[in-house]
Amino acid sequence: MAAATTKLLLSDLASTVKSVPSNYIRPISDRPNLTEVQISDGSIPLIDLQVLDGPRRLDIIKQIGQACQHDGVFQVKNHGIPETIINSMLSITRAFFKLPESERLKSYSDDPSKSTRLSTSFNVNTEKVSNWRDYLRLHCYPLQDYIHEWPSNPPSFREVVAEYCTSARGLVLRLLEAISESLGLQRDYIDKALGKHRQHMALNYYPHCPQPDLTYGLPGHIDPNLITVLLQDDVPGLQVLRKGKWLPVSPIPNTFIVKIGDQMQVLSNDRYKSVLHRALVNCDKERISIPTFYCPSPDAVIAPAKDLIDERHPAVYKNFTYSEYY
Ligand code: OGA
Ligand code: NI
Repeated sequence: MAAATTKLLLSDLASTVKSVPSNYIRPISDRPNLTEVQISDGSIPLIDLQVLDGPRRLDIIKQIGQACQHDGVFQVKNHGIPETIINSMLSITRAFFKLPESERLKSYSDDPSKSTRLSTSFNVNTEKVSNWRDYLRLHCYPLQDYIHEWPSNPPSFREVVAEYCTSARGLVLRLLEAISESLGLQRDYIDKALGKHRQHMALNYYPHCPQPDLTYGLPGHIDPNLITVLLQDDVPGLQVLRKGKWLPVSPIPNTFIVKIGDQMQVLSNDRYKSVLHRALVNCDKERISIPTFYCPSPDAVIAPAKDLIDERHPAVYKNFTYSEYY
């Protein structure tokens, strides 16, 4: 077990252990319950964005609205982000986590206030039980403010990741327009409500795990931001809570998973619900997932949209700034 105390990153520990070290073991009441599987029926909506900008726009917007209201999560296909950009992003992430330990550790920090940092679990300074995950956190918008901080190894890292996050932002902006319209608001309502937009990204790396029933990649949580667009590789692990049961989100190549975050719940005056989700690990395969977290500016005042407040729907939230919330 000595390794557990000498390695900063899980990726350098996981391959050396035959059992899960004690600091990763969840209490019995809080385990993934892999055998007593509580799988709910159905799957989460898969929405085709091919015709979003054509004559069937209203139909697609309706589908998006329904998904935001009932599930807080949906998948999108024909989203306009080329397959080559997606595959390069997944490959460069894999390549980054395969770099020698000494090279990766150049980006390591356990200080959550740093805008670029490689770390492990969630917050190793405050948490009691650790998560089976390493991650590289990046700020990505405005790109020119942050790109110089990003890792320069693998050599094409900055170029590939910049192209990916610019495309991901384009997709988010289209979704925000559609979601605004689905709420009956002006197309640019959410765009304007955010102040200066912020975009963050995590490159999550979940090593394979000798005892996946004892720990989580990430335990159940809600994303605190506005909206998250998640790219995952072909290894299952993500689950969302639906009607009190955990539903696995099986990977479909070339699709993204869109999750409603807390700020969207507030803007929509609770019409749309942020979704509880978690990531499980498995014993055969490592897994990569890449969430793009889209956020309001820290000083943006977040409040239910006025047009969504009336006698039957009083404001459920007081006004606050995003930084107060955070
Ligand atoms: C996250 C997250 C899910 C996953 O990073 O916030 O929910 O599948 N990730 O890795
Ligand atoms: Ni999340």
